[in-house]
Amino acid sequence: MNNEDWLFHIRKELEKITRNVAVEIWPTPDGKCYFNYRLEHVRQVERDARWLLQAVGGDEDIVIAAVWLHDRYQPQLAKPDHHSLLAAEWVREHLAETGFPVEKIDAVAYAVEKHSSPINSLPESAHEARVLWDADKLTKLGPLSFVNMVAVMPAYPEHAMNYGEIVRMAKDELARRKELVDLFYFPVSRERAAQRIAAQETFVHQMRKDLAGV
Ligand SMILES: [Fe+2]
Ligand SMILES: [Fe+2]
Repeated sequence: MNNEDWLFHIRKELEKITRNVAVEIWPTPDGKCYFNYRLEHVRQVERDARWLLQAVGGDEDIVIAAVWLHDRYQPQLAKPDHHSLLAAEWVREHLAETGFPVEKIDAVAYAVEKHSSPINSLPESAHEARVLWDADKLTKLGPLSFVNMVAVMPAYPEHAMNYGEIVRMAKDELARRKELVDLFYFPVSRERAAQRIAAQETFVHQMRKDLAGV
């Protein structure tokens, strides 16, 4: 296998793992799914990680492999215990089978294992793990976080919805996400996080005005 093959393989595998759960949450009448939250999340983490790599450098193989493997034990919304540890274990045991450069496997496993580690706990030497950490959290900020909030609603059918409730949730979500802005490892991530939060703030502000009838 060459370099492209390992990426093709782990991408296809994540598409399958996530689709199996997505068909239960977002079913179409013909047995497919009309949305796949986790796959969209990982694709966005890849976009953010590639952007960040351009800005701060780093080993692309390690970062992109870690992106596609970090949430393989959290295929949709449920938060299983130790999903980072399980994924890191998979990396150590199976990533070599895909043709991925063996000398980089430890670094992938480390980044995957630490992707939900406490704020500011990664040393500077763990550059690629820091890139994944920032990209994974950046993805949760901005207007797309609102899209996610609405898109995952079918998973919680017991939660009654109306515009007022949606705006209340959007406000809470914004307050929670705002706290992350200063906690990213890289200054460019903080900058991008602030932009996304500002856009989200404008959006929530306008929704509140509309609902208040002013
Ligand atoms: Fe995760
Ligand atoms: Fe993630």
